Amino acid sequence: MPRTEHSGSPSVTRERSPPPSIEHVDTIAQAAAALPVDEVYNISLQNKERCHIYSMECYEQMYHRSIKDSDNFWRDIAMSTLRWLHPFTKVQGGDMHPEGDVSWFINGKLNVCDNCVDRWAEVAPERIAIIWEGDDPQHTQTITYKALLNRVCKFANMLKRLGVRRYDTVGIYMPMIPETIYAMLACARLGAIHSVVFAGFSAPNLRDRLIDAHCKIVITADQGIRGGKIIPLKNIMDEALKECPLVDTCVVFQHQGQAINWIEGRDVWGHEMLDGMRPYCPLEIMDSEDLLFMLYTSGSTGKPKGIAHSSAGYLLYTALTFKYVFDFHPGDIHACVADVGWITGHSYIVYGPLCNGATTVVFESVPMHPNPSRYWQLCERWRVSQFYTAPTAIRALMIHGTEWVENHDLSSLRVLGTVGEPINPEAWRWYYEVVGKSRCDIVDTYWQTETGGHMLTPLPGAIKCKPGSATRPFFGVEPVILDSKTGKPLHGNNVNGVLCFRRPWPGMMRTVYGDHERLLNVYLRPYPGYYFTGDGCVRDKDGYYWITGRVDDTINVSGHRLGSAEVEHALVQHKGCSEAAVVGYPHSVKGTGLFCFVTMNGDYEVHAGTTKELRDIVRKEIGPIATPDYILITPTLPKTRSGKIIRRLLRKIAASETDSLGDLSTLGEGGDQVVHTLIQEAKKLT
Ligand code: WT7
Repeated sequence: MPRTEHSGSPSVTRERSPPPSIEHVDTIAQAAAALPVDEVYNISLQNKERCHIYSMECYEQMYHRSIKDSDNFWRDIAMSTLRWLHPFTKVQGGDMHPEGDVSWFINGKLNVCDNCVDRWAEVAPERIAIIWEGDDPQHTQTITYKALLNRVCKFANMLKRLGVRRYDTVGIYMPMIPETIYAMLACARLGAIHSVVFAGFSAPNLRDRLIDAHCKIVITADQGIRGGKIIPLKNIMDEALKECPLVDTCVVFQHQGQAINWIEGRDVWGHEMLDGMRPYCPLEIMDSEDLLFMLYTSGSTGKPKGIAHSSAGYLLYTALTFKYVFDFHPGDIHACVADVGWITGHSYIVYGPLCNGATTVVFESVPMHPNPSRYWQLCERWRVSQFYTAPTAIRALMIHGTEWVENHDLSSLRVLGTVGEPINPEAWRWYYEVVGKSRCDIVDTYWQTETGGHMLTPLPGAIKCKPGSATRPFFGVEPVILDSKTGKPLHGNNVNGVLCFRRPWPGMMRTVYGDHERLLNVYLRPYPGYYFTGDGCVRDKDGYYWITGRVDDTINVSGHRLGSAEVEHALVQHKGCSEAAVVGYPHSVKGTGLFCFVTMNGDYEVHAGTTKELRDIVRKEIGPIATPDYILITPTLPKTRSGKIIRRLLRKIAASETDSLGDLSTLGEGGDQVVHTLIQEAKKLT
């Protein structure tokens, strides 16, 4: 990627449809060949009859209805699951063609906050809505539904007082504390659109997102804390706001209490202002299709997309998947230990659980703090019934041995979930045997920021598991595997191609905020009539789905999607760097690690600290999650005659798969030598 100017301006970059290329097919075929041998687990819960979906027949029947009688299926569920202020007049409109704009529960009116808070505060005011456990396990808080309603109303009144109105966008850059959840729900109450930015992102990243979302008001805290490490959120926000002329208000919550800079007239103390607010706030009557929030995610190009979700469809879909996939029953304590800065937190810490009137755990810390028992302490202490994490965390914990799990009473656990990346069978078995004592259901849930909720997943009580497979589609989901070259559907079992969805589901993203064309170009135009996920996939002999990984230029690091272009853009910010190419390679804990190939300007003198400088620049530009694992400084990169970097080769070199480099004839003059040198250099590095 050539050196470019700062991407701070909200200029619109158009993304072209990824032309399905040979490279992709290569990757898929390779991944498919590596699928583990068949191993089927028929997990029977002690109380199988207790499960909502208690048998395969039950699943198949319901699934069949969700596809063949879709309107009635979704009408019944929408009517019985949500509280409507005005019923909808049509179940669904549109289809997957670019001009077929998808909509659900047309003309229906509701309020998402009413569904998640008010109705439970009415029927079960004393039920615990939120259990908060701070970074320091001594710090905890429980919040009943009644108290939640009180806080959210005060919060909404504060936002109103600060000028927030329906359809305004509100930036949230917060630690994992209850105020963050109040902020999201208060926005929903007012019909404002929230845009949560993960509190591990750097100032430039935060700035770009706030600008793109047109935020006028932002909410943050003095500092966050994770694993004992202080994160200076307000400082980072100050830095970002230097280039966000639209933002006129910054609400600050006191969390760690360390000194911060203060800009009079712009900054306000949240807790002080909340104290003065009335705990009653009328709700806004919103349309089903009004946007609830946006959340940025990386794409093939450098500019992240503001994935925007609807009110009714999103809420219903997260509520329903929450209920069935985690087999939720009243009284269950649900712990999803993701961060609300990601879709997992939006859907399965906040909206899905609260819409079911569940008790949800908000966990501020990390799995290793103060020791590798932390998750299991959490589960024991709060009698957690469903626990949801990422394969990366499981792999990291496995290294420390089973003793950290064994001395905890985990008898309350019933369902263990994973999300974010394929889980390797070894980690799956460890989760199943060591954590679940071979009596809990494991749900490997495949989905995306764009899908709003689970798409492929086992259902406890119904679907047998195969470690490493996300198994079957959820209700209403119709997966199709296309031949990536021809774009034709591959029918039957034992097929391997790219994963698409044929029919709209309620939780589907509705637009890319401010750039609807991008939704069409990235998801709907590559294979007309289908939503394209960007993932490779195999349907095995039993009709089970196996995700083989991304087929676009995004890299899934520890369950977080990063664009290679984003990392490359950060690297070329270094004054000496002229070109960068970043690829993923198999990493034992992160799933995929970042391998960066860079070339430096001729007049730049590489010194002992250059690699560190490059690494630091990526951390500064994006955040610690994008820290490169390897940086290889090289005189040239392998390119085609027309000057395109051949990533396929770089991936092979990074993965040390140099016996099978494939066709090298596309390389330009002297290409063989370039590749040979790279292989030697990479060997030295790894
Ligand atoms: C990408 C979406 C969904 C919330 C967390 C990540 C990969 C996700 C699985 C899974 C295999 C998975 C896919 C997908 N992915 N879950 N269970 N098995 N791969 O959200 O950042 O939107 O990333 O994560 O590649 O496209 P995201």
